[in-house]
Amino acid sequence: MRNEPELRLIGLSKTFPGRKGVPEVRALEDISLQLHRGELACLVGPSGCGKTTLLRIAAGLERPSEGKVLLGEEEVSFPGGQVGLVFQQSALFPWRTALRNVSFGLEMRRGRDRRWAEEEARDFLYTVGMEGFERRYPRELSGGMQQRVAIARSLAVRPRVLLLDEPFGSLDAQSRNSLQEFLVELWGRTGLTMLFVTHNVDEAVFLGERVFAMTPRPGRLHRVYEVGLGYPRDRTSPAFVEIRREILSYLSQVEKAPGGGS
Ligand SMILES: Nc1ncnc2c1ncn2[C@@H]1O[C@H](COP(=O)(O)OP(=O)(O)OP(=O)(O)O)[C@@H](O)[C@H]1O
Ligand SMILES: [Mg+2]
Repeated sequence: MRNEPELRLIGLSKTFPGRKGVPEVRALEDISLQLHRGELACLVGPSGCGKTTLLRIAAGLERPSEGKVLLGEEEVSFPGGQVGLVFQQSALFPWRTALRNVSFGLEMRRGRDRRWAEEEARDFLYTVGMEGFERRYPRELSGGMQQRVAIARSLAVRPRVLLLDEPFGSLDAQSRNSLQEFLVELWGRTGLTMLFVTHNVDEAVFLGERVFAMTPRPGRLHRVYEVGLGYPRDRTSPAFVEIRREILSYLSQVEKAPGGGS
């Protein structure tokens, strides 16, 4: 059922402890959000508002100071397993080919049957449109291609939820647009539940069925926007422009407010 909650973040807070001469950081404050099964949602917020921290907690890579994360009915264990994360910077192994980057997680998870893992990896490279590039090393691929491989690597372990941390942030505008189109198409094909983090409002409105807006210091979730437009989206349509304007003006308003809108 599409309306069933797949991933639930409940009352998450995070304080990074300080040390001598370095104060503690309250990165997140009481964040709750739910992703429905099969939903593509985006999370926007300015740099430093805690987006990466939130995803790391949701993926089970970081413990929250308070609150919990549920996947279906089960609490996400630490370190997590069924939640895939595509990182902000390309995190491919430079010494492994595209194919061996994708097969890596499979070999780790299901014993070390390398041939099986490579066959699976080949399928996932195909899924992201990277057939023919199996033997290339990351340095031989464009930034956009590297991010496709990173997405394939996350998909290959068949996560229930895919979290993406500004995966297209370092790309030029044209590659970025084409990867956004690719992501919508991939989501349509796989029906995977996805949370896509970006500080780019245009990207969030292009991708998300819903857009969550965060404010900084400490990061709080203040608004949820229902985008309500079909796919593929037209950035020049009045409805698109209007919702983008609304979110941008909200974010700039909270940025100016003392305490980041809190
Ligand atoms: N391991 C850590 N130890 C201490 N402080 C941390 C740690 N990780 C993050 N922080 C702090 O938590 C806050 C949120 O950081 P985070 O990386 O989650 O922000 P972000 O929204 O992802 O920013 P950006 O858009 O620049 O990627 C920042 O003030 C950061 O300095
Ligand atoms: Mg970040």
